[in-house]
Amino acid sequence: MSSKPKVFITRQIPTVGLDKLRDACQLDIWPDDLPPSHDALLERVKGCAGLLTLVTDPIDAAVMDAGLPDLKIISQMAVGYDNIDLKAAQERGIPVGNTPGVLTDATADLTFALLLAAARRLPESIDYVKAGQWQTWGPLTLLGHDLHRSTLGIIGLGRIGQAVARRAQGFGMRIIVHSPSATAEKAEALGVELASLEDLLKQSDFVSLHVPFNDKTRHLINAAALHQMKNDAVLINTARGGVVDQAALVAALEAGEIGGAALDVTDPEPLPADHPLVGLPNVIVLPHIGSAGRHTRDLMASIAADNLLAGLRGDPLPHEVT
Ligand code: DGY
Repeated sequence: MSSKPKVFITRQIPTVGLDKLRDACQLDIWPDDLPPSHDALLERVKGCAGLLTLVTDPIDAAVMDAGLPDLKIISQMAVGYDNIDLKAAQERGIPVGNTPGVLTDATADLTFALLLAAARRLPESIDYVKAGQWQTWGPLTLLGHDLHRSTLGIIGLGRIGQAVARRAQGFGMRIIVHSPSATAEKAEALGVELASLEDLLKQSDFVSLHVPFNDKTRHLINAAALHQMKNDAVLINTARGGVVDQAALVAALEAGEIGGAALDVTDPEPLPADHPLVGLPNVIVLPHIGSAGRHTRDLMASIAADNLLAGLRGDPLPHEVT
């Protein structure tokens, strides 16, 4: 019997994270590409001192209780942790770690990739060439938004929102921000204007979401919000699918109330291939790849391992969710 603490990791993660853990822990790594079911989580967490989780794993009170009395730490390899019942963890005295900071730039880059792709209609243009429709250079063919003349509305001015704002400066965009916690000094330093949600929705050519998902932000973008947006505006979501009322989004797109949507996150995930959003020509859906840079994922795995090891030792976590 190994005396090393047992740790369950819910999927293969980058080697750099595993290497940090191997010497100190007895690792049980879920071998499949698909996440463990809730039943499998309940089974595998038994006797574990540590649990290393991903955004796909619903970690509720039942999973925590199945791990007690051994479970000392839940380390999430992500910045978002809405899949974990934080209150239940706190009630049980189990610290929860996450990986903030290291995926800011990767996520801001992907936000800009979506923004550019939607503005300049890249998916439609690629399909146009592949379908053999490219007959000539057309003065009125596949016209899109000019970024440098556009207004970007950023909702949420945390790390990722700020990184998106910095990129937008480089493109000469006007940037307006809705963030109840942002100060005038912070806005001035970033070169952005603060606005009410209503003004932002009315004035923006692109609305980009950068808020965490919680009870306050659930369906923040609902039918009424979509109705306030410009008819040719594009909604970009690299935050969490639940921030948008997706049925209302489909209705707004079908009614031409907004011009398009570019989504890295949906509700649910994965989104079935026959979902109406996937079929719309003015919608881009990506499979939640905001942080999917090789170096970024190495850093996330490394921090998740550091948090886990600290939790096993009973030390403060380098990055603890509070
Ligand atoms: C996160 O970190 O919260 C992303 O959604 C996944 O990397």
